[in-house]
Amino acid sequence: MKLIAPSILSADFSKLGEEIKAVEAAGADWIHIDVMDGHFVPNITMGPIIVEAAKKSTDLPLDVHLMIENPDLYVPDFAKAGADWIAVHAEACVHLSRSIQLIKSCGAKAGVTLNPATPLSAIEWVLEDVDYILIMSVNPGFGGQAFIENSLDKIRRLREVLAERGLSPLIQIDGGVNSKTIERISAAGVDVFVAGSAIFGSDDYQKTIADFKQKLGR
Ligand code: DX5
Ligand code: ZN
Repeated sequence: MKLIAPSILSADFSKLGEEIKAVEAAGADWIHIDVMDGHFVPNITMGPIIVEAAKKSTDLPLDVHLMIENPDLYVPDFAKAGADWIAVHAEACVHLSRSIQLIKSCGAKAGVTLNPATPLSAIEWVLEDVDYILIMSVNPGFGGQAFIENSLDKIRRLREVLAERGLSPLIQIDGGVNSKTIERISAAGVDVFVAGSAIFGSDDYQKTIADFKQKLGR
């Protein structure tokens, strides 16, 4: 099943709980939480206390995308705050395999993320360890950027590698997902679609998510 994960980065933070409830009511499958530290990416966003607040607002799985240096220092805090899925960037982990095991040992599903310029070979030897792989289709840091088209080739290549190896982690895409790009992205083999500005910037969340689902054949 193809899943929709609204990114609260584009939500109205003055009423975050209501925004999360609104996308849940509108048919969202996961809630995507973008954590940025001002070092790994040129922006600062939220920490475990926001995950804890989100947990009180919804029963949907919380998907925490860590765009931070030294993620091992904070993974336990995010898990304790209620993160169900946690992804670290391959570029931020010297001992990537250890970081993935740490996420699992905290009871969360483990993901690995690649920036647009990072080759798939960076994750070749952890593919069997992860529950999901997040392919960035923008340079992380901000919502509302244009989809980088060659991400589609990367996804197709990843699909082939997973098939050859008999592995089936979910493939997630993040950045520039909207009503114009979602069908192409889906055709390349993506399972989980993160969308921030396209959902929270729309007038009618329900209509937008229904349109996405229809384009995903749901
Ligand atoms: C980018 C974040 C994304 C972002 C996507 O650094 O990881 O999750 O919110 O935003 P849109 O959907 O607006 O491209
Ligand atoms: Zn994200």
